[in-house]
Amino acid sequence: MIISGKELSAKMKAEMAAQVATFPEKYGRVPHLVVILVGEDPASQSYVRGKGKACEVVGIKNTTILKPASITEEELLDIIAGLNADEGVDGILVQLPLPDHINESHIINAIRKDKDVDGFHPLNVAALWMKEPCTVACTPKGIIRMLDEAGVEIKGKRAVVIGRSQIVGLPVSKLLLDRHATVTICHSRTKDLPSVTREAEILVVAIGRPKFVTGDMVSPGTVVIDVGVNRDPETGKLCGDVDFEAVEPKASVITPVPGGVGPMTITCLMENTIECFLAKMQR
Ligand code: GUN
Repeated sequence: MIISGKELSAKMKAEMAAQVATFPEKYGRVPHLVVILVGEDPASQSYVRGKGKACEVVGIKNTTILKPASITEEELLDIIAGLNADEGVDGILVQLPLPDHINESHIINAIRKDKDVDGFHPLNVAALWMKEPCTVACTPKGIIRMLDEAGVEIKGKRAVVIGRSQIVGLPVSKLLLDRHATVTICHSRTKDLPSVTREAEILVVAIGRPKFVTGDMVSPGTVVIDVGVNRDPETGKLCGDVDFEAVEPKASVITPVPGGVGPMTITCLMENTIECFLAKMQR
């Protein structure tokens, strides 16, 4: 079974659109997401366009602030301070990566926790690990939603996560653990990685290397979640971290690239924006 993140996203966005349509009467306005894009990286531009489009579909107000790569850290921090103080702004997202002269942690730390729709602020990260209310990072949230939608039982399963990033590997491991999976976190330097991945009943791959997971690394019946977004060095086409042609016949469930996890990330961003808005309205 191939899980379409695109289809699930469309369904979720339609449900959110119906919900947001009730907000003007209930709360006097719709949620407002501000996205800041620094520089002209084509991949970032494409992500930001995707976020704008999703806002349109869901009925969320979207402002995109475009700044040249030459902006200073101080200038960017000033913009964030203004948005933090603006009662009419519910979510703030600074598209990563940022130019080298800007310290990403300084920027992430400057966004108010309750407007941090990415779930990247240290207070949100800490709250996740302490099982306190928080904004959950969009990609990990989207992965769990896809597993649920596909009817995959997580409880009691052996999950293997390849990748230990703050954005995907670590939070998705924590979410799987909270759902009572037994989780092994590994990485590119894990000794004899195939012997580890072959034990997986759920395999999440977020390492950022084209076709890193080959057919021999996956046991029959495995649920395979591919978080990679890479260019195939041979064809130049978009491809995942998993060699789809080789792994798909063995997997019980697999996510394609494109059209798998990617759309879910943006859809969960819409959900996080609505959650930040409602938390404020209900305070
Ligand atoms: N760059 C790539 N993915 C993301 C994301 O989810 N959030 C932000 N802020 N930047 C990104």
